Amino acid sequence: MRILAIDTSCDETSVAITSRRRVLSNVIYSQILLHKKWGGVVPSIAKRAHEERIDFVVDETLRKVGNKNICSLHNIDAIAVTQGPGLAVALEVGIKKAKELAKKYNKKLISVNHLEGHIYSAFVQNSKGNPKRDFKFPYLALIISGGHTEFVLFKNHLDYEIIGSTLDDASGEALDKAAKILGLGYPGGPVIERLAKEVGNIDFHNFPRPMLKSKDLNFSFSGLKTSFYYFLNGQDGKGAHVNQNIKQLASSFQEAVFDTLIKKTEMAIKLTTINQLIVVGGVVANLRLRKLMRDLISKYHGEVLFPPYKYLTGDNASMIGVVAGFKAEKDLFIKNIDELGRIPRMSLNKFDSI
Ligand code: KG4
Ligand code: ZN
Repeated sequence: MRILAIDTSCDETSVAITSRRRVLSNVIYSQILLHKKWGGVVPSIAKRAHEERIDFVVDETLRKVGNKNICSLHNIDAIAVTQGPGLAVALEVGIKKAKELAKKYNKKLISVNHLEGHIYSAFVQNSKGNPKRDFKFPYLALIISGGHTEFVLFKNHLDYEIIGSTLDDASGEALDKAAKILGLGYPGGPVIERLAKEVGNIDFHNFPRPMLKSKDLNFSFSGLKTSFYYFLNGQDGKGAHVNQNIKQLASSFQEAVFDTLIKKTEMAIKLTTINQLIVVGGVVANLRLRKLMRDLISKYHGEVLFPPYKYLTGDNASMIGVVAGFKAEKDLFIKNIDELGRIPRMSLNKFDSI
């Protein structure tokens, strides 16, 4: 089953062609440069950029397969699309295009939850079928991105339960906001990682670790951002510590976020007694975090899986196509194409396969 998958959930226009877990072609047209000067994603700009680029990205994805047999939509078996959660006006562009293609070429349509996509990103393979990771259920999955910080029990294929979430800012969002406060631009994660590394990832300031005392698996990062802001500017906004070393600030902030993620993950391992870990989403591009996660899991004699290729950490359509492949095997196609709409909320309380 060859699937053409579309993801326009935030600020990347992405289309992929997949066959089971293999990616035959994947194109990601990033909008980062358009949003950079605003310090975050601007919905109206995202929508327009998706609309302007989606046809080009579909064509380019088909062209890049490089195999005459499947480089036309006629040779595709089904269309998959991210239904949500995500930025509403952005999601709608992908959904509209998927419906249009499904009708025009008479293809079946599969909708995919974006979070499912991130979870399966750890199992996506290249066109040669590598890496060959077997599924060893159950897994404890941690999704950490600009929009999400969630613990999910991944019990079996397409079978999940959310067991912890952020109550406010996501972990990537916290890094982005700290970078903005420091005048480092958007996105914040990569630049904070680089500056922190230059000072040995040392925790100089010991900022608060939110929610560590709570007995549940929820997170809250907005208080950390506020204390960071007050530390820098003083409660009275008079710039108490504005001249602090920026690398030390970045390193300390990153350590506060990561220490919280690690301690909560340890709590989740103990509560669930699962030591098979999946850590996915944009923030796991960070090598410091990967090391901390590896150190943690070795204490519990378990295994941690990250997305095997860097492009799979951020938003991409390959992971959506791979989920769609598993859904197709279970005949989970959309019954009435006209009924497919976006999920109206940013995050789902009940996380089930749509
Ligand atoms: O998964 P993603 O591309 O998009 C969302 O679905 O949100 O994640 C983007 C987030 C941003 O907050 C960005 O700052 C963060 O991932 N990020 C990183 C790194 N690269 C991207 N955070 C920490 N270290 C990185 N190297
Ligand atoms: Zn995402």
